[in-house]
Amino acid sequence: MSGFWNGWIVVLTLANVAGALWLLWATSRREPNDARAEQGDPDTTGHTWDGDLKEYNNPLPRWWLWLFYGSVAFGVGYMVLFPALGSFGGALGWSQAGQWQAQTLEAERRANEQFAKFAGKSVVELQRDPDAMRVARNLYANNCAMCHGSDARGAKGFPNLHATNFQYGKEPDTLVATIALGRQGVMPAWADALGAQGVEEVASYVYSLSGRKAPADLVAGGQAKFGMFCASCHGADGTGMPVLGAPNLTDQYWTYGGSIEAIKETITAGRQNQMPAHLDLLGEQRVKLLAAYVLSLGPPAAEPATQTAQNVPAADAAAAVVPVTGDASGH
Ligand code: HEC
Ligand code: HEC
Repeated sequence: MSGFWNGWIVVLTLANVAGALWLLWATSRREPNDARAEQGDPDTTGHTWDGDLKEYNNPLPRWWLWLFYGSVAFGVGYMVLFPALGSFGGALGWSQAGQWQAQTLEAERRANEQFAKFAGKSVVELQRDPDAMRVARNLYANNCAMCHGSDARGAKGFPNLHATNFQYGKEPDTLVATIALGRQGVMPAWADALGAQGVEEVASYVYSLSGRKAPADLVAGGQAKFGMFCASCHGADGTGMPVLGAPNLTDQYWTYGGSIEAIKETITAGRQNQMPAHLDLLGEQRVKLLAAYVLSLGPPAAEPATQTAQNVPAADAAAAVVPVTGDASGH
């Protein structure tokens, strides 16, 4: 705010207060009407009803007046102590930002106190500590649930954290690295290299890897091409390579859907995805707690009813799979 506008606002504010004071003072000077009315000369507002009913112009009652004076005094005191007058910060130095900062620091201090008892514990130890897991569940709800789901079963493009095989691995240190530093998964597009027929064959082979039936001639052709184009990342048997983030293609877990259509789409156009880094946001202790939480999530007790659409065997899932347009990363 420039000096001029600041001055302008200060003058305007003070003039308003002065105006209010003057108005109070001016109206309070008038004599009470009782005496004048007795002399037959009441001070009226000039309004007359029903021929002779006049409205007396009475001054404000004293107590009412003093309430007003009191409010003005309070207002002036407020302007001296708190930021209310232009850019003048107030004698107390209070500010909303300052209050927020103090509250944040206090919350941080209390959180750190809470976390102090978990310091120095390994991820595995944390996972066995019910207190730690209670805290971790809250951390998960606040920081991870919006992408991985409140039940951690993921959604299309967001991995299911109950999976039996993790894309990047489920060792404690790996989980810490995934959460702290984030991950960028890149599955190349194969439409050009394979051609439409090639995509059809490889997709059928991949489809068959999780124990499902596909046309034998397509599967045979696909297997050879898989060895050529895919095995370097997904492994010769398709069980994946956590170091590369290449998922296991032989299980029931699909990030992008396991229907033949979804698999063809993945192979044709490729997939790119990102798990954001959380170290700066959460700090080391919270990241470890979250790693422990993810570690504690087991695969579901092998009952299809608890699986989400993208993890249901493709035969049932075909209808549930949402078609993807363009980039499927969800960002
Ligand atoms: C903005 C969305 C988003 C948020 C928030 C998010 N994630 Fe992720 N996460 C992803 C995506 C997308 C991937 C898959 C990355 C890839 O395919 O390379 C992923 C991958 C992962 C993996 C690897 C899974 C595997 O199979 O190896 C773990 C573990 C994980 N997230 C845990 C977490 C935790 C814990 C949090 C909370 C701190 C979290 N994520 C927050 C989107 C998110
Ligand atoms: C350069 C390494 C690399 C090669 C080569 C590669 N992939 Fe992938 N693939 C990946 C990665 C990494 C992902 C995970 C992408 C992500 O994080 O979102 C992936 C994901 C997939 C998925 C999705 C799995 C799911 O859960 O939805 C399928 C299907 C797939 N690849 C099949 C293939 C096939 C078939 C080939 C050969 C034509 C192939 N990939 C070649 C690295 C590779």
